[in-house]
Amino acid sequence: MTGMPPSPHLAHAPAVVVTGIGQLVTADPLLGDLSPLGVVTGAALVLQGEQVVWVGPAAAAPAADAAVDVGGRAVVPGFVDSHAHLVFAGDRADEFEARMAGRRYAAGGIRRTVEATRAATDEQLAARAASLVGEMLRQGTTTIEIKSGYGLTVADEARSLAVARTLTTETTFLGAHVVPAEMADDPAEYVRLVCGPMLEACAPHARWVDAFCERGAFDADQARAVLTAGMAAGLQPRLHANQLGPGPGVQLACELGAAAVDHCTYLSDADLDALAAAGTVATLLPGVEFSTRSPWPDARRLSAAGVTVAVATDCNPGSSYTSSMPLCVALAVREMGMTAGEALWSATAGGARALRRDDVGRLSPGARADLVVLDAPTYVHLAYRPGVPLVHRVWQGARPVTG
Ligand code: NIG
Ligand code: FE
Repeated sequence: MTGMPPSPHLAHAPAVVVTGIGQLVTADPLLGDLSPLGVVTGAALVLQGEQVVWVGPAAAAPAADAAVDVGGRAVVPGFVDSHAHLVFAGDRADEFEARMAGRRYAAGGIRRTVEATRAATDEQLAARAASLVGEMLRQGTTTIEIKSGYGLTVADEARSLAVARTLTTETTFLGAHVVPAEMADDPAEYVRLVCGPMLEACAPHARWVDAFCERGAFDADQARAVLTAGMAAGLQPRLHANQLGPGPGVQLACELGAAAVDHCTYLSDADLDALAAAGTVATLLPGVEFSTRSPWPDARRLSAAGVTVAVATDCNPGSSYTSSMPLCVALAVREMGMTAGEALWSATAGGARALRRDDVGRLSPGARADLVVLDAPTYVHLAYRPGVPLVHRVWQGARPVTG
């Protein structure tokens, strides 16, 4: 069906043909059924080097050095989790339990994790983050964004990002998560610290700059100051906004050309128009609404307005302590109004858009060979069988990493 000539550096890499694929989701609209999911039945894939080099009907597959038969299972692109906070210590199970008894979520809980994170050693932070990345990988996530934001001093933010950078290239400076307790009386001074010495120490370890633009965290002027300072230092903007109520964050993110604005639980019609016009991705985080017992955003309203939607975990100890993209897909389907196909697209290709990546979130020639073999005949089972460990095997960069 489609292929690409091996590039010179691939010439000597062994090629592996994957056969017996009951249903292949390419997330490339030019392949298969020509839907956004690009579904191909009776397909084979050829992997070489770290890439997919050929996709097509099994009967037409070219010769390869090795073959793997996946026994009729469905194969989907590795999940792209474009929003996670994995560098922290401690947990806040007591807050979750209080919320389930009726207490409201409040941004102030972040300060408890800041205290625990500051008290942890570098080794403890690195071990916890690596263990969460392992959890994610076993559940099919092959690309992960990791934020700082639980250090909130120059040294603690820089070491958080140094840890994150050992685990992913998608690292985000979130010094503007909340104002730390010791500076509660002088938020303006804290914003100056974030935009000055903290940014200087963190920028070398980060690709992205983020802020929490919300009542109880940072207002639009403060978030704008942080994002524009980050952009001047060479970082690309993304934003947490409109999680706890309506607010100016979505408009700000669109005005600054952010790749994504995340949460989007409370959106006005003007917010939808701004997202569609700017091409800024709206990232929905179903684990947050689940874990904070908040109203569910309506994904149908976003897609009807022409907004690109991503789905991510927001894995963090406060508002969403899940590492599971399959759970988020199931929640997005059941509670946010998506079809299983839309949710899977948002968890793969949508996440890639949110990170401005075109080499992940799809399985077509030229993409990284990050694939998930499901113990299921179709991708629909991700939502149809919630909570069931359906990930049979994960390949990252053409190497089997689980199973
Ligand atoms: O994305 N919203 C801001 N930050 C995190 C929550 C962090 C926490 O409660 O510890 C989030 O939900
Ligand atoms: Fe977050």
